[in-house]
Amino acid sequence: MRGSLVIAGLGPGNDALITPEVQDALDRATDIVGYIPYVARIAARPGLTLHPSDNRVEIDRSRLALDMACNGRQVVVVSSGDPSVFAMASAVFEAVEHGEPDWRDLDIQVLPGITAMLAASAACGAPLGHDFCAINLSDNLKPWDLIEKRLRLAGEADFAMAFYNPRSKSRPEGFAKALKTLQDTCNDARPIIFARNVSRPDQTINIVPLTEATPDMADMRTVVLLGSSRTRIIQRNGTPFVYTPRSVEG
Ligand SMILES: C[S@@+](CC[C@H](N)C(=O)[O-])C[C@H]1O[C@@H](n2cnc3c(N)ncnc32)[C@H](O)[C@@H]1O
Repeated sequence: MRGSLVIAGLGPGNDALITPEVQDALDRATDIVGYIPYVARIAARPGLTLHPSDNRVEIDRSRLALDMACNGRQVVVVSSGDPSVFAMASAVFEAVEHGEPDWRDLDIQVLPGITAMLAASAACGAPLGHDFCAINLSDNLKPWDLIEKRLRLAGEADFAMAFYNPRSKSRPEGFAKALKTLQDTCNDARPIIFARNVSRPDQTINIVPLTEATPDMADMRTVVLLGSSRTRIIQRNGTPFVYTPRSVEG
């Protein structure tokens, strides 16, 4: 049987947010490859082999998946959220570009998933309703200077922003520096949203003015959304609605 490789997004955590297309690929797979907590979301069944691996081994993981697909297996590489958003799809294509010539002829498909920023946006209204950008705040794969430049320029261009990987135990100071840059550049009290464990039973949404945001409000289970200067808050009982109007007058 001809092998295949699917790179699939499992969504932000709630199984109801796995797309039918991804569920179908998981049901047909012979092998699931991915970071330990994501593979742990897949139920074991006869005929299915799970290949969990540690963080930061994306290229090794990709090569294993490509090798198995070349040998006739139906392989699914899983990411959380969407596989193209700071996740495995790019790693697999990097392995293909620099790897075995046969890998280029494989049947490879990327199946999208619901990324954390869109699930977080939906949980509080529509803060990303106008132009926005997404920035990974980890400096594991790029220099900190570049992150700071992008934060400053995105602030100057008045984008709403989504921040992934905001603050980890090994990078405790990075998010403090990022917040300072944003507070200095934006210089107003626009809303910033700390959305933790979105779509899971322990989801929390904390909305504060940018001027009052502190680094301890985020961790690696949090996606952070910052409004533009035009983002609005509708106060009500419970979590307010936050939205960014669709239009800007010329
Ligand atoms: C390596 S990135 C993977 C992003 C993923 N591919 C996606 O599309 O959501 C991991 C970061 O995504 C964010 N994230 C993923 N799932 C989340 C969730 N359920 N709630 C809040 N943030 C989440 C956090 O910022 C976390 O540090």
